[in-house]
Amino acid sequence: MITFHLNGQPHRVAADAHLSVLELLREQLHLTGTKEGCASGDCGACTVAIGALDANGELRYHSANACIMPAHQLQGRHLVTVEGLADNQQYLHPAQAAMVECHGSQCGFCTPGIVMSLFTLHEEQHAAPLAAPLSPERLEAALGGNLCRCTGYRPIRDAALAMNSIDGHRPLWLDATLDDAQDNQHTDLDEASSRFHQPHQLNDLVRLRAAHPEARLVAGATDLWLEVTQQLKDLPRVIDTTRVSELQQIEQGRDVNGRPGWWIGAAVTYARLEPLLNKEYPTFAHLLHRLGSAQVRNRGTLGGNVANASPIGDTPPVLLALDAQLRLTGPKGSREIAASNFFIDYKKTDLAENEVLSAIFIPASQTGRQLKVWKLSKRREDDISAVLGAFAWHLEDGYLRDVRLAFGGMAGIPARARGAEAALEGHSPSPTVFEAARKALTSDFSPMSDVRGSADYRQRSASALLERLRLVIESSTHAQTTQEVMLHAYAH
Ligand SMILES: Cc1cc2nc3c(=O)[nH]c(=O)nc-3n(C[C@H](O)[C@H](O)[C@H](O)COP(=O)(O)OP(=O)(O)OC[C@H]3O[C@@H](n4cnc5c(N)ncnc54)[C@H](O)[C@@H]3O)c2cc1C
Ligand code: FES
Ligand code: FES
Repeated sequence: MITFHLNGQPHRVAADAHLSVLELLREQLHLTGTKEGCASGDCGACTVAIGALDANGELRYHSANACIMPAHQLQGRHLVTVEGLADNQQYLHPAQAAMVECHGSQCGFCTPGIVMSLFTLHEEQHAAPLAAPLSPERLEAALGGNLCRCTGYRPIRDAALAMNSIDGHRPLWLDATLDDAQDNQHTDLDEASSRFHQPHQLNDLVRLRAAHPEARLVAGATDLWLEVTQQLKDLPRVIDTTRVSELQQIEQGRDVNGRPGWWIGAAVTYARLEPLLNKEYPTFAHLLHRLGSAQVRNRGTLGGNVANASPIGDTPPVLLALDAQLRLTGPKGSREIAASNFFIDYKKTDLAENEVLSAIFIPASQTGRQLKVWKLSKRREDDISAVLGAFAWHLEDGYLRDVRLAFGGMAGIPARARGAEAALEGHSPSPTVFEAARKALTSDFSPMSDVRGSADYRQRSASALLERLRLVIESSTHAQTTQEVMLHAYAH
């Protein structure tokens, strides 16, 4: 049984392990306002809002794609759908009123999803009113996961900008607490008969993992649930990692090598990770803006991206460039391994059958150490990489040190370009040295051709990214030299 709130009312429903929130809404509860467009998280027609208590006990709403969210993950949450927004079924919510006022809808198929994305944006501004007008970046981030075929985005953007100054009602139940459906109630009180397990402690997760080798682990479900909706797989048993407290933590600490940094719990979402990355590695944080949509980032996790081991996953190359470590936990305890030893072959990792990925170590940024991340994809918003390059290095007396050149999309696994790294290591960043590195790159990888890019495109792109890196290093050393000359001139 799942206990949750739906549009202000407590609900308790039975659901199969593989049922999505969208199926629950449309087929069991007959709430058909939430639409199915793609069933793969791409179009946003199924967008709903999920309310959960934050670390301060405040109820916060975020957007999610109902088509790829397991219904069981509603346990203890507040689900808000488009049917709930009009107060007393009479007074439009400001997001709805603004869409009417600005003519933001034509056929209306995408409209419920767009209204729900605007709703979460409105809630965010309600919780922390903006001092300045909504920035174009924030607006793009809020609406980047919603496609509209007929209206065009101008009136929708106008609605988002007008929303706060348009008369409308915000239902009072949005501020209600979640007392009736606490998330610490298990959905699998009867563990033997349940097929969806929601442990709250790491040792329970590990025990379930070992007891049910056929089960699939699920975190944000933004990869896994596509196996249900696209490949029509029947998942016989599912173990949810998202309520495990240890997997939700971001802790300052050290890795096995004594380096300071952060242990990121495997079930930490991109949305929660972003503030830390903004501070430590802005270029990594910037990559997150290009990873999926707001709906995907609100639910997708760093652990899911790593464990999925896709050769075109966005974060693994960055973790390789940062010499990140992974903590794998099984019945006999935890072990820590370098991220570079985790990916073995296409979708094959070092994770044993009875282990889970519990945390990812990201070292603290160091003065002088640089990181650049460049993602090439066909679309800027909500698209998977064709090639991604993540590069880390520092200069010591003008020589490149500890060079890491990691790529996605160039091999069956995310991988470092060892030959190209060796060509740069210990050299000054001259055009000749980079020419040698680009040449070595052709032996490092033999990429494949697919819908995202031909082998030739990938090889040329990777080479071009190295040239871009050279230019960045050249311009930064030039800027540094100019600064030094000027400081010298001022000093004398
Ligand atoms: C519309 C859309 C756009 C996307 N865009 C991008 C993109 O731009 N870049 C990108 O890299 N990805 C993208 N993705 C893929 C996906 O969002 C990411 O890979 C995400 O990080 C997966 O995390 P998750 O928590 O949703 O994983 P899930 O789907 O829950 O799990 C993924 C896999 O990891 C396993 N797993 C999860 N947690 C653990 C654990 N703790 N231990 C062991 N195994 C575990 C699961 O069993 C499953 O096999 C996109 C997906 C969608 C739907
Ligand atoms: S139906 Fe397209 S994102 Fe869910
Ligand atoms: S109004 Fe028709 S798809 Fe957006």
